[in-house]
Amino acid sequence: MACSVFLSSLLLLLLPLSNGYVAYSNKNIKIYRVTGPIDHGEAPHWDPKRQALYFVDAFNTGIYRLKDGIVTTQTIGNADFVGTVTPVADTKSKFLITSDTNAWIMDWDGSANNSAVINYRRPFINDLEPTKPNNQINDGKADTHGQFWLGTLTRNADDTVTTTGGSLYMLRCDGTAKKLFENTTISNGLDWNSHDTKFYFIDSTNRTVTVFDYNREDGTLSNWKELFKLSDYPSYASDVIPDGMAADSNDNLWVALYRGGAVINVDSQTGNLIRVIKMPVSHVTSVAFGGKNLDILYVTTSRHGFNESMLNQQPSAGSTFAIEGLGVTGNNMNDYRYQGNIQQFF
Ligand SMILES: *[C@@H]1O[C@H](CO)[C@@H](O)[C@H](O)[C@H]1NC(C)=O
Ligand SMILES: *[C@@H]1O[C@H](CO)[C@@H](O)[C@H](O)[C@H]1NC(C)=O
Ligand SMILES: *[C@@H]1O[C@H](CO)[C@@H](O)[C@H](O)[C@H]1NC(C)=O
Ligand SMILES: *[C@@H]1O[C@H](CO)[C@@H](O)[C@H](O)[C@H]1NC(C)=O
Repeated sequence: MACSVFLSSLLLLLLPLSNGYVAYSNKNIKIYRVTGPIDHGEAPHWDPKRQALYFVDAFNTGIYRLKDGIVTTQTIGNADFVGTVTPVADTKSKFLITSDTNAWIMDWDGSANNSAVINYRRPFINDLEPTKPNNQINDGKADTHGQFWLGTLTRNADDTVTTTGGSLYMLRCDGTAKKLFENTTISNGLDWNSHDTKFYFIDSTNRTVTVFDYNREDGTLSNWKELFKLSDYPSYASDVIPDGMAADSNDNLWVALYRGGAVINVDSQTGNLIRVIKMPVSHVTSVAFGGKNLDILYVTTSRHGFNESMLNQQPSAGSTFAIEGLGVTGNNMNDYRYQGNIQQFF
């Protein structure tokens, strides 16, 4: 796919926001598309071993890989929603997939479309929350032990999410799950600082980034506090919500703004807004650092529910973008490290 640079977005970088905060501008920043549009891109994961970006098309239940400029995809049947795709450590082609309320293993070498071996009938986790039939797994990420943290949400019949029915879990390396905390609404972006002493978490409905003290040895969280509140920036309409998030190697946070047309950079010490990177589309869903030097910020976006006029205004909505020239690098993302015999699932 040809890469087109969005000059208009660079010009927008220079516009002051109405609350007086002047967006950061840097003529070295380049924003370009790396894939064509899909319905709802989410959960980007950069795999340093394969030098490939993985992400999902959540409502169409697609898994995507971008490697050397080539896109391949695998559709997961028998599910309403796919949350995440994460490589399993020390395997050639196994991935932890979360879909609906399940976590299971897919075998896909990614070289061809729809060539995977799919075993959702033999999951690690089959129905994580049996007493909550309307819950599903949303965002997730592996920690430095290789344990996979995932959040759930309760979807109403009309597709909205309004109740505090979600929780955050850790899928341990033995395949069992432990609840970390509860009463979340839309559990979304999550990451750790580089010393593994802090955990950052977004509840999209609360429009906040929260920070916890994290004890890596026993996996416990304490001293919950709000770090950043989007409501402090009234130039963003109240329906703009923080979505996916990645910490950089300085421990500052990069947060996708859904309906906000931007990726924002938040100081993890002070909670201050450091920079606003305007994107050429409004529904920005998540971010992940990748590339050989971990200096490219990959950004997934959505066109889910767009009407005709929105599609005409934003023909590239739903594409995955790359941002270069930010002057920061990310941390390596982790694999899920399964301790048992993975062949038992095939
Ligand atoms: C796989 O499918 C995608 C999306 O339909 C398409 O863009 C791509 O060219 C296909 N890749 C291969 C290797 O056939
Ligand atoms: C979660 O909400 C329920 C119902 O309101 C309440 O009983 C429970 O104590 C809450 N849990 C926490 C950890 O706040
Ligand atoms: C979200 O807001 C609810 C209601 O105000 C509160 O109970 C909950 O602790 C908040 N959770 C997070 C993670 O911000
Ligand atoms: C399309 O959706 C946008 C955003 O919700 C709305 O402002 C606009 O009125 C809609 N247009 C039509 C023709 O329905």
